[in-house]
Amino acid sequence: MGIKFIFLAIFFCGILFWLARTEPIEDKQALLDFLNNIHHSRPLNWDVRTSACNLWVGVTCNHDNSRIIAVRLSGFGFRGSVPSNTLSRLSTLQILNLTSNSFGGPFPSDLSKLGNLTSIYLQFNGFQGPLPQDFSVWKNLSVINLSDNEFNGSIPSSLSNLTHLKALNLANNSFSGEIPDLNVPSLQLLDLSNNNLTGNVPKSLARFPTSAFSGNQLEPEVSSPPVVTPNGEPKKKSSKLGEPALLGIIIGGSSLGFILIAVLLFLCYSKKKAIPKPSKEEGFIKKEKKTILESHEGDGRVVFFEGCNLAFDLEDLLRASAEVLGKGSFGITYKAALEDAITVAVKRLKDVNVGRREFELQMEAVGSIRHENVAPLRAYYYSKDEKLMVYDYYVQGNVSAMVHAKRGEKRAHLDWESRLRIAIGAARGIAHIHTRTCGKLVHGNIKASNIFLNSQQYGCVSDLGLATLITPTAPSVMRTAGYRAPEVTDSRKASQASDVYSFGVLLLELLTGKSPVHATGGDEVIHLVRWVHSVVREEWTAEVFDVELLRYPNIEEEMVEMLRIGMACAARMLEQRPKMTDVVKMVEDIRKVDTGNRPSTETKTEESTPSVTPPLTEIASSSIQQ
Ligand SMILES: *[C@@H]1O[C@H](CO)[C@@H](O)[C@H](O)[C@H]1NC(C)=O
Ligand SMILES: *[C@@H]1O[C@H](CO)[C@@H](O)[C@H](O)[C@H]1NC(C)=O
Ligand SMILES: *[C@@H]1O[C@H](CO)[C@@H](O)[C@H](O)[C@H]1NC(C)=O
Ligand SMILES: *[C@@H]1O[C@H](CO)[C@@H](O)[C@H](O)[C@H]1NC(C)=O
Ligand SMILES: *[C@@H]1O[C@H](CO)[C@@H](O)[C@H](O)[C@H]1NC(C)=O
Ligand SMILES: *[C@@H]1O[C@H](CO)[C@@H](O)[C@H](O)[C@H]1NC(C)=O
Ligand SMILES: *[C@@H]1O[C@H](CO)[C@@H](O)[C@H](O)[C@H]1NC(C)=O
Ligand SMILES: *[C@@H]1O[C@H](CO)[C@@H](O)[C@H](O)[C@H]1NC(C)=O
Repeated sequence: MGIKFIFLAIFFCGILFWLARTEPIEDKQALLDFLNNIHHSRPLNWDVRTSACNLWVGVTCNHDNSRIIAVRLSGFGFRGSVPSNTLSRLSTLQILNLTSNSFGGPFPSDLSKLGNLTSIYLQFNGFQGPLPQDFSVWKNLSVINLSDNEFNGSIPSSLSNLTHLKALNLANNSFSGEIPDLNVPSLQLLDLSNNNLTGNVPKSLARFPTSAFSGNQLEPEVSSPPVVTPNGEPKKKSSKLGEPALLGIIIGGSSLGFILIAVLLFLCYSKKKAIPKPSKEEGFIKKEKKTILESHEGDGRVVFFEGCNLAFDLEDLLRASAEVLGKGSFGITYKAALEDAITVAVKRLKDVNVGRREFELQMEAVGSIRHENVAPLRAYYYSKDEKLMVYDYYVQGNVSAMVHAKRGEKRAHLDWESRLRIAIGAARGIAHIHTRTCGKLVHGNIKASNIFLNSQQYGCVSDLGLATLITPTAPSVMRTAGYRAPEVTDSRKASQASDVYSFGVLLLELLTGKSPVHATGGDEVIHLVRWVHSVVREEWTAEVFDVELLRYPNIEEEMVEMLRIGMACAARMLEQRPKMTDVVKMVEDIRKVDTGNRPSTETKTEESTPSVTPPLTEIASSSIQQ
């Protein structure tokens, strides 16, 4: 009996061990075949017995370690031609980076099998001869860098078939012949300098600076010659006004202009003081690049989730130019532009108080969620000193910024329809989260600044599942206080019922346009929930609504209904709060003709209790002073 059990245990452990170390066996063999057929001067730790995905230098795998998607072998002293039928077997490869070696021989043309390739970097090698004529096989190629080699022959015109091409660098080679008419609108970076090109710059490329073409034997004639004035000076095309006319305008308009300038200056000045612009830190981790790189050796890697077309590693993030988007309760979020011109939002967590295993489990739970109202976690990174989470970047910004946008700011203010869609989407997203992990997953940090708009302009919740991982620090307490349910004293103890409370506060925020906690001139701090209760109890209900909303006709009943739901959710006693699945139905019913294009099916419970919310004043008086 005992022995049997031990055998079984060993067997299952073995299976678990094996599962945990799934490996792209064929891709691994392709890389080993590559390595065994080429000379290199720096050692590589590619051992057939170790995990290629986790340990091999220069190798990046996809989310489930089943395939290799990026190979970066820069500066390993590789010498000779790329052995054929090796790298070309990595059929899912997206990024190939062989820069700064001594590769020679022809362009490895069997790479044409790699239809998924998005970036190829071969610069600073000794590749020779012509390029393959047919580039249209790489439909997804967006970055080509072949600079500083000895390529010759003509530039293939098939490059113009690459509709995703963003960057093309062929500088410092020996290309000859005429520049083909590369009519690729997506092309942003071009460098053809220091070759032996002849003829003219085609019209389609005239938008690039002349430095992109320098060091060739191109004809001096520029494709769009500047208009020359009689006295021989080139005249700017844009200014069509003659000097006398300009002078007249200056004199005539000077008094008016003076006033205008003064007003503008004043506006600029006062605006600057009011809203401090997010500081633009170029290369956010650059400043601290050293510390991250030191800790990163073999310690961590970027883990991607399913359905993610991104392929980058920590170094790509380090190289990315970044801008601070915001400082949240759990860390700073940056907007990072990656090498292949993709923009992501990177959250850099601070004060993570759990170990690697627990962190990874939580990330897997969060990363496996795919729902149109939940912002997908694309990837994460864990090392001893650095924990990062990668999300999509939402151009429109978050709901907090939208609701509290000042009048006259560039952002259009939120109309009632938009607020309804935000509420419906957020409710559906939270309800979906609550059904995950056997109904145990908690969002823990619902607030307007964590809600974004999805492509259908419905609310989409972000930043879930972090509350349990992170020790809250003092300054953030204040910021989230207005959303936090009264029974939650430690953010790690958040529950689904406290999520419902926070959602209620969000509804009240959408309705009133007021922040959950706001100061009134002096030291007094007003809690939105308490304030709404006091107003409603005095039966001044109409006073609570955002003045911006009063201009829309026939929405009063809908607003009152949302107010009712918001107050029910933000009930003081957690037993009184409705379940999120019921909240979804209530919010969807605010407008009987649902503005959404599909009802929420996945959130329906079998025997749902009819959700009847008591009248407003009753709610207000039943809840004791909050
Ligand atoms: C290529 O990979 C190396 C790391 O192996 C990196 O240092 C280098 O910046 C990469 N170059 C490009 C253009 O991605
Ligand atoms: C691209 O990758 C997918 C798997 O992600 C694979 O099935 C497909 O064969 C690859 N495409 C090419 C052209 O190799
Ligand atoms: C190109 O990329 C898209 C996604 O960006 C992917 O769906 C498609 O399969 C890729 N095409 C090839 C030929 O790999
Ligand atoms: C390209 O270079 C090779 C030697 O590297 C030479 O044999 C060939 O003639 C060259 N082709 C052109 C078009 O210059
Ligand atoms: C672009 O691709 C099509 C077919 O895929 C091909 O017929 C055409 O010749 C290509 N264009 C160029 C400029 O190579
Ligand atoms: C290509 O490589 C050169 C040399 O390393 C570099 O200066 C250039 O920025 C790279 N261009 C692109 C588009 O990656
Ligand atoms: C080409 O070579 C010149 C001179 O060696 C160098 O200054 C320039 O940066 C190189 N261009 C690229 C794109 O590598
Ligand atoms: C450049 O091309 C011309 C003729 O097109 C040729 O005479 C010359 O040798 C070439 N120069 C280089 C450096 O390849």
